[in-house]
Amino acid sequence: MSTTTRRGLFLTFEGLDGSGKTTQMRLLAARLREAGETVIETVEPGGTSIGGAIRRILLDPANDHLSSTAEMLLYFAARAQNVDEILTPAIARGEIVISDRWTDSTRAYQGYGRNLGVDVVRDLDRIACRGRKPDITFLIDIDLETGLQRARHRNIETSATDESRMDEQSRAFYERVLEGYQALAAEEPHRVLRINGRGTIEEAAERVWAAYKEFRDRHV
Ligand code: TMP
Repeated sequence: MSTTTRRGLFLTFEGLDGSGKTTQMRLLAARLREAGETVIETVEPGGTSIGGAIRRILLDPANDHLSSTAEMLLYFAARAQNVDEILTPAIARGEIVISDRWTDSTRAYQGYGRNLGVDVVRDLDRIACRGRKPDITFLIDIDLETGLQRARHRNIETSATDESRMDEQSRAFYERVLEGYQALAAEEPHRVLRINGRGTIEEAAERVWAAYKEFRDRHV
């Protein structure tokens, strides 16, 4: 029997490129479905057909002259579409929505990484998401070196050229992104749950599940 909460639940996964968050998100979604929940998976940027078109602009290496402000607005444009088309209706139906990245990514990558600051990210979030915030954010923690290595390896293996614009960023950029995530976790420890992403996929998945259960037990 479904145990889907009537008010819906919005979960997000965050972390550096190569943190393993996408794998962890899929495993959590599968486990929740096994438990009888209705789960919608989405991704940022992307998730809708309009979001997918925006993703192609954002990650195209030919667009290396995209300005930082235009980049940030495009991320939020994709997100606003996601809110209207996927998130809000699913939450209204009492379902669980899990997103691979959300505004915390913009905060870490554009706010910190591109030095645009957190205030502008907060203001744009208010416009695009209209107060909709994740109930829980799983921040998959890995060290920078491991993340960069895994991301590079994945791109070589899949020749995922659409992801190469971000992967060409400098190391200093990713250090600022990491700093942004660390600041976020310190500021919002009740929402942002840090998950140790080291070890096997299964070990990390158990940590995600334990953190989820603990959250649910606190909110029954
Ligand atoms: P992904 O590989 O997790 O799908 O993310 C694609 C890239 O987009 C990744 O390098 C992070 C970046 N990104 C931002 O810079 N800002 C954002 O708001 C989002 C959602 C992603």
